[in-house]
Amino acid sequence: MDQDRGQFSSKLGFILAAAGSAVGLGNLVAFPVMASKNGGAAFLIIYLFFIAFICYPVMMAEIAMGRRTTRNPVGAFSALSGGHRGWRLAGMLAILTPFMIAVFYTVITVWLVVYIREIATGNLEYLSAETSFGEVVARPSLFAYLVGLMALIFFILLGGVKGGIERLARVLMPTLAVMLVLLTIFVLTLENASLGIRYYLVPDFSQMNLSVVNGALSQAFFSLSLGMGILITYGSYFSRNDNIAQSTRMVAVADTSIAFFAGLMILPAIFAFDPNTNTDDLSTSSVGLIFSFLPKIFLSMQAAVGYTGATIAALVFFTLVFFAALTSLVSIIEIPIACWIDELKLNRRKAVVLQAFLLMLFAVPATMSLGISDFFTNFTSYGGVSKSFFDLVSDVFYETILPFVGFTVCLFCAYRWKVSGLKSELVIGDPGYEGSRLEKYINFSLGTVIPVVLLVVFISTVNQIYLS
Ligand code: PHE
Repeated sequence: MDQDRGQFSSKLGFILAAAGSAVGLGNLVAFPVMASKNGGAAFLIIYLFFIAFICYPVMMAEIAMGRRTTRNPVGAFSALSGGHRGWRLAGMLAILTPFMIAVFYTVITVWLVVYIREIATGNLEYLSAETSFGEVVARPSLFAYLVGLMALIFFILLGGVKGGIERLARVLMPTLAVMLVLLTIFVLTLENASLGIRYYLVPDFSQMNLSVVNGALSQAFFSLSLGMGILITYGSYFSRNDNIAQSTRMVAVADTSIAFFAGLMILPAIFAFDPNTNTDDLSTSSVGLIFSFLPKIFLSMQAAVGYTGATIAALVFFTLVFFAALTSLVSIIEIPIACWIDELKLNRRKAVVLQAFLLMLFAVPATMSLGISDFFTNFTSYGGVSKSFFDLVSDVFYETILPFVGFTVCLFCAYRWKVSGLKSELVIGDPGYEGSRLEKYINFSLGTVIPVVLLVVFISTVNQIYLS
């Protein structure tokens, strides 16, 4: 069975794979927009504070749980609590969440593939029309792309932890970083780019309020792939010779740096497009921004670099986003697979096939949620708005539940496994951890401040989405 579980080949392998998971749409799109709408560098400062003082300890706790038990989230909660049913339930939530997030993330990735194809065949202008997004997402041909994407992902996952996930991250993560830097340099040469930089980097604390602070924490949490069982599972593939605190820090730094650079690219691009841009008008939704707004921005570059130049820039950007989405998607689909391997005692091949089948079962209706099927498009309604099946999955699992899973992880580590248990894992590969300031901070905060903050975020999100 252990050979079906697998392990990362080295610390670097873990860092790249975890960064591959963490770097996603959140970094490339949501972060730049949130930062620019909410006071630029002022938002960045708060965001960094949350990464360091709230997310970093939770990350370490998740990884430690996985490494101690060499199990998926259900197995980890269950083993460390001596089979307690309530905690097992918390583990199940940490499987269900990534399972469902994978459903709608798959659909978004399918759209990305369609966009890349359209751009590559000279249709950037078509994509920048107001109606194009609505038209693309209602195409029945999406199913063909869905099948193709699934084949690619499950082929990668069949390769296992080292030969599949880690190998993919080793190739794509450096490529992604280089592409991002090149595109940023290009965008910075455009006229009016400096207006965007000013907007992004000059702190404006007048925009701060509770909902911005709340948004910054949710974004930080989401961006590091917390609360999705991912780091518990990746922790279970992490060698006992390596240092958790240090590797975790590298992942957090990589993730935050990519988000920061993405802002340095997106904001100047938007201002080069229209120097009078009012950032209040920018959509908060990553989806709306990528698929409706950015094609227009790239098209507008044709004045400076011609249609071909604009097409190439768009192609580089969308490919970049696709790579980021692909590594995130692979990481999230691995979680239920790890569960089937550990808990159902399946070999990897069978677990992958089972998961492919289960994912399709939900991904098909989610694909049909934007016009293909009326039933799934107007699936339900709450908070006074009609919601599709896709919206429902995204609202419940993506927007709402992550901080709650984080909350259960904190309580679990502080009061069930106990900080002494957690410490006994964190010192392995890192003798300096014992007695360090980091240890003192984690021991104090994991059972107090952090869960309280996460609970507040959870409640206020529920309030905002479902009750307002
Ligand atoms: N961390 C990812 C991001 O920033 C979120 C994510 C990870 C989503 C894994 C899905 C799967 O976009």
